Amino acid sequence: MLRSVLIGTGSALPRQAVSNAELAERVDTSDEWIVGRTGISNRYIAAPDETTASLATEAAWKAIEAAGIEAASIDLIVLATATPDQTFPATATIVQNNLGCRGGIAFDVAAVCSGFLYALGIADSMLRTGMARRALVIGSETFSRILDWDDRTTCVLFGDGAGAVVVEAREEDGEKPRGILATRLHADGAHNQLLYVDGGPSTTGTVGKLRMKGPEVFRHAVVNLAEVLKEVLEETGLSTSDIDWLVPHQANARILDATAKKLGLPTEKVVMTVGQHANTSAASVPLALDQAVRDGRIVQGDLVMLEAMGGGFTWGACLIRV
Ligand code: UT7
Repeated sequence: MLRSVLIGTGSALPRQAVSNAELAERVDTSDEWIVGRTGISNRYIAAPDETTASLATEAAWKAIEAAGIEAASIDLIVLATATPDQTFPATATIVQNNLGCRGGIAFDVAAVCSGFLYALGIADSMLRTGMARRALVIGSETFSRILDWDDRTTCVLFGDGAGAVVVEAREEDGEKPRGILATRLHADGAHNQLLYVDGGPSTTGTVGKLRMKGPEVFRHAVVNLAEVLKEVLEETGLSTSDIDWLVPHQANARILDATAKKLGLPTEKVVMTVGQHANTSAASVPLALDQAVRDGRIVQGDLVMLEAMGGGFTWGACLIRV
């Protein structure tokens, strides 16, 4: 039986960090409000020469280096983003070209903040069915380009960045096999007006700006995430006490706390980066994962739960033995 085993992680952030105090010079907000309501102190904002593709490429190179492989051996690139460099071609093909890979499969996935979970689920299916052998799965975003910088209810919440993982198909072995153990993904389009961008090539012909009814999204997030985490545990026959680390989508520290509490997981087992990165949409889970791998918290053999919820709504969870 084939399993998709995680063999390397990487991430990238824009050069410029922006503090809450700097934002407060631009919109009617305060460090106290932002930290108190969200846990966010800082975010990184891309300069004009930093794009979704360039950040994705930097994260990808780091993941490839960590995996100790040749870039040319990658035969599948799945890139999750809601902020592609161009309407087409897929940003994944730009990254493929930057890495010097040719001829494999490369495409983008649009599931907003759940995008990395969707991309990883798709890559896992393709690896286990033999369509590819070695995949690069990336979440990369430049949300600063679609923010309404006059809307204090949204512009303080998001940041830019990228995270990447290399995953390869391996024959399962041992009593506690490494690899992706289960993935559950969901969507409910009935809620797409609670979090959306008010533009697009087929409607306004413009890129548009992000719009969100934050408190309503918050309520759905806590309920949906608790349910999908339970589904994944039930599917694998494992329990909360087996989880070494929860790596959640980093939207709001209060959502992370509420989700951990509902799951009965101590907060020390939750990887939290929202304070420094803010909400980086599809990049947030792989960015947090890479940080916890590089600082030595997550080690080989750990049982790691990933989860995310975002526009659509879309949501999902994935359990990996790293
Ligand atoms: O990644 C995709 C998923 N997204 C999420 O999960 C986001 C989920 N939602 C949230 O994280 C929270 O709902 C927010 C952080 C967006 C908002 O926090 P909240 O505690 O739900 O606040 P609120 O929207 O109910 O606003 C409370 C007050 C309002 O003032 P009034 O009407 O009570 O006078 C807002 O106008 O805070 C005001 N407010 C602000 N004040 C200072 C809203 N934004 C700001 C701001 N600075 N930036």
